[in-house]
Amino acid sequence: MSFKQIGVVGLGIMGAGIVEVFARAGYAVTGVAESGPAVTAGQSNLAKSLGRAVTKEKLTQDESDEITARVIFGEDFSLLANCDLVIEAAPEILSLKTQIFRQLDAVVKPAGILATNTSSLSVTDIAHATNRPAQVVGMHFFNPAPVQKFVEVISTAKSDPKVVAQIAELGTSLGKHLAQISDQPGFIVNKLLLRYLNHAVQILDSGQGTKEQIDAAMRELSNYPMGPCELLDLIGIDTCVEILKTIHADTGLEIDKPAVGMVELVAAGHKGRKSGAGFYDYSQSAQIPTDSNESVKKQIHNDLLIAYLGDCIAMEATGYAAKSDIDSGMRLGCGLPQGPFEVIDSMGIESVRAAQAELAQRSGVTDYQPLAF
Ligand code: CAA
Repeated sequence: MSFKQIGVVGLGIMGAGIVEVFARAGYAVTGVAESGPAVTAGQSNLAKSLGRAVTKEKLTQDESDEITARVIFGEDFSLLANCDLVIEAAPEILSLKTQIFRQLDAVVKPAGILATNTSSLSVTDIAHATNRPAQVVGMHFFNPAPVQKFVEVISTAKSDPKVVAQIAELGTSLGKHLAQISDQPGFIVNKLLLRYLNHAVQILDSGQGTKEQIDAAMRELSNYPMGPCELLDLIGIDTCVEILKTIHADTGLEIDKPAVGMVELVAAGHKGRKSGAGFYDYSQSAQIPTDSNESVKKQIHNDLLIAYLGDCIAMEATGYAAKSDIDSGMRLGCGLPQGPFEVIDSMGIESVRAAQAELAQRSGVTDYQPLAF
């Protein structure tokens, strides 16, 4: 199939970003959201992002106008009827996504492919809400979608391999690096990333460090582009809680239970940047967290890094993903300077395993124990 007309349902941060990715690549895009204000917010997200690129002289005003002209916005699902592919980017609520897929199945032409940008929910469950499960896949982008160069393509047992191959080809045409994987909660990146983010908030909740120390630890000692609390604010703390609930339901592990600090912020309406405040307050200009307590930062950095590297080793050992896909996912999906297996290679696997055992013993959390090979 040659893709010409692309639909996007849901115009929040991710949906609007996905609209921009396709429009920039030359596709005609239809963006649909559930209400007038949601459509306006999506339009303004696209305008803001293109405006930033023009200010930075990455795009000319003419190019930005051409990109904008490729997109139409609206509230009516029937606008999507002729789309070759529709990507759903609605909130992480399974009942909402299955309802959207039933609607899409009814209006989109029979040859149309339907994809979900779900962060962790079962693509299989979503596919089964339609009468065309062979034409349903996951196409998972990373935030900000125009910046992060990685996409996970998720197939279910029912996905037609030809459809998966077409979606992979399309993803490559967008300039993205892809990993093709099966349907598991959190896929590659979110399974690893969300446990790391949750661990950071568990450290915060336990009083072992402040949010500034935690963020500065990862920025300064591993050169991450953002600390975990800043990143939770970027993704949306409410979204992260929902992803963790899905992962926790699957693993049953205490370390995957959403940390209290996150749940409380969401209950207070502090969902991160999109609501004006989360761990940090965004009514003022951006703050780069700093802290001079070197020993606290070193301990926090050690604990977060070692637990995360251990999870990467375990993921590869289960056969779910290859080292190269895990490395690409974390580097190109989250902007990390190195993939985890590059870090493990430079540290030596035995020293990572010894550090895992030390962390498990000191914290009393047996889930941090190294795998028995
Ligand atoms: N939309 C579009 N472009 C954006 C953007 C946005 N929201 N935010 C930043 N950019 C662009 C900027 O225009 C700039 O582009 P150029 O290099 O072409 O000039 C570039 O990104 C860098 O931006 P800045 O210089 O303003 O800021 P920065 O260097 O601090 O980078 C960042 C910002 C790209 C967000 C970087 O901090 C980063 O990569 N952070 C990690 C983000 C991450 O981990 N994302 C994955 C989260 S997990 C996920 O999304 C999956 C899920 O399901 C939850």
